[in-house]
Amino acid sequence: MTLQFSLESRNAEIVETPCVVVGVFDERMLSTAAQRIDAAAGGAITRLLESNDLSGKPGTTQPLFGLVGVKAARVLVVGLGDAKKFDAARYAKANVDTTRALKGLPIDSAVSYLAELDVPGKDLAWKLRTAALASDAQAYKYTTTFKPREKSSRPELHALAFAAPAGSDASVLEQATAIAKGVRFARELGNLPPNICTPAYLAGEAHQLAKDHPGVICEVLEEEAMYKLGMGALLGVAQGSANKPRLIVLEWKGGGADEKPYALVGKGVTFDTGGISIKPSAGMEEMKFDMCGAAGVLGAFLTAVELRLKLNLVCVVPAVENMPGSNAQRPSDVVTTMSGQTVEVLNTDAEGRLILCDALTYVQKYNPQTIIDVATLTGACVVALGKHASGLMTQDDSLADELLAAGQATLDRAWRLPLWDDYQSQLETGYADIANIGGKYAGAITAGCFLARFTEGFRWAHLDIAGSAWDEGRKGSATGRPVPLLVQYLLDRAQ
Ligand code: BES
Ligand code: MN
Ligand code: ZN
Repeated sequence: MTLQFSLESRNAEIVETPCVVVGVFDERMLSTAAQRIDAAAGGAITRLLESNDLSGKPGTTQPLFGLVGVKAARVLVVGLGDAKKFDAARYAKANVDTTRALKGLPIDSAVSYLAELDVPGKDLAWKLRTAALASDAQAYKYTTTFKPREKSSRPELHALAFAAPAGSDASVLEQATAIAKGVRFARELGNLPPNICTPAYLAGEAHQLAKDHPGVICEVLEEEAMYKLGMGALLGVAQGSANKPRLIVLEWKGGGADEKPYALVGKGVTFDTGGISIKPSAGMEEMKFDMCGAAGVLGAFLTAVELRLKLNLVCVVPAVENMPGSNAQRPSDVVTTMSGQTVEVLNTDAEGRLILCDALTYVQKYNPQTIIDVATLTGACVVALGKHASGLMTQDDSLADELLAAGQATLDRAWRLPLWDDYQSQLETGYADIANIGGKYAGAITAGCFLARFTEGFRWAHLDIAGSAWDEGRKGSATGRPVPLLVQYLLDRAQ
C-alpha cells in the first residue's frame, strides 16, 4: 500500500497531529511555518539554533517534543541548507529525509509544511507531487520474502498531509498516488528473487493486472507461438533455461479507436548468468535486476491505466532467463530474427538486445506512433553515466527532447548518447547480417545501434537503465526508474 496523501490548510501551530514538519535553512533562517511554530512556542526553535542544537544543514532532521503553545505532539525540524541554493533536487531530498525521520517515530501520520517553500520555477502541483513521490519512495520497504512478523502495536507511518492554501486542487495527489503505485509495482518485481520472479511469474502479474483493471487486454505468447513467428533471437537466449520464455502483451485503449498507440517495450531477463559466456560470480546476484526494464514498462502501464489516460498504449515484455546448459546457445551460433535479419551471437551475455530485437519487430504490428524500449542493457552505460542518469538513445530529436524534458520534470533524468551511423560498422561480421557485440568502445551506443536496425521507419527511443534501475549492495533495492519519466511522457502526450 502506498502512503495516503491529503492536503492541510490550517497553520502549523494549530494543527492537531502526531507530528508537524517544518524546514529551517542554515544561518538560522526559518521557513514561514517554522517561524509560526517558533512564535507560538515562545522562541523554542530560535533558542535551539542559537545553542547549535539545530543547524539547518541539509540532511539533518530533529524531532522536538511537547512544545508548549503548539498543538502537534511533535515538531520535526528539517535542515534545508543554503537558502540561495535551494532548488528542485534539494526540495525532493528534504522530503526523502523527512520520511526517513518520520519512519523512526512511533506515529501513524504527520503534516508537512515543506510544500510551502519556494522552489525556483516550480508550482504548487509540482511541489505536492514531488513531495508525495519522494515520501512514498522512502516509505516503501521490501518484506515479501521474510518470515511473517507478528503485528507490533507500535504505530507505523501510513498517512501524510501537505500544507496547501484552502481550496487547492487535490487531484495532483491522486495522480501522485497512481505514479507511486506504478513505482512500487516496478520496485517489488525488481526486488523479488529470480526463483520467484520467473518469466511465467511476470506473465502471471500481467494477467492479474488485466483482471484488476477492466479495459486492459493481456495476451501471453509461449514458446510455440514465438517459434511460429520466427523469433529465433529471443528463443536462442531462452533455450538454455528450464524456465520457459514468455512474450507478454498488454493493451490499454483510452484513446480513439483510430489513434495509433504508444508502445513500451521492456527487457525482462529474470536472471542473467551471461549464459555460456558466463559472468564472474562476484556480483552476479545483481543480475536478478535484469528484468527492471520489464518492471519499468509494466509499472508505467499500471499507472497509465489507473489514471485512465486518454491514449492508446501497448506494452510488450520479452521475458526469459539467460542460463548456461547443454542446450544453451554457443558463442558463434547464428540465429534468424523475426525481422529476417540474421545475427551472429558472439557473446551470449549480450542477450538483452537479442530478446528486444524480436519484441521490437513484434510490436510494429500495432503500428505505434512511438516506440520506447527500456533495458538494463549494458555495463558500459554505467561506466559512461554512473547511477544517476539513464542513457537515452534515439535518432529522433523531438522524441529525445520530449523524453529528456519528462525526466527533468520528474527528477528521473536521462542523458542522451549519440546513435550516429558511424558506430554501425562495429557490428559487422563475416557470418551474419549483424554481430551481437560491437567491440570494446562505446558499448552502450553499439547496443543501441543494434536495436536501431530493428526499428527502422518508426519513431523509436531506447533507455538504458543499467545504472539507474537499482541501488548497489546487499541492501540495494530496485528504484522503480524510469516509471516517473515514462508516465510524465505519457501524461504530456495525453493532454
Ligand atoms: N544485463 C547486462 C548489463 C548489465 C551489466 C547491467 C551490469 C547492469 C550491470 C547485459 O546483459 C550484459 O551482460 N551486457 C554485456 C554486453 C557485452 C557482452 C557486450 C556487458 O555490458 O558487459
Ligand atoms: Mn548479459
Ligand atoms: Zn542482461
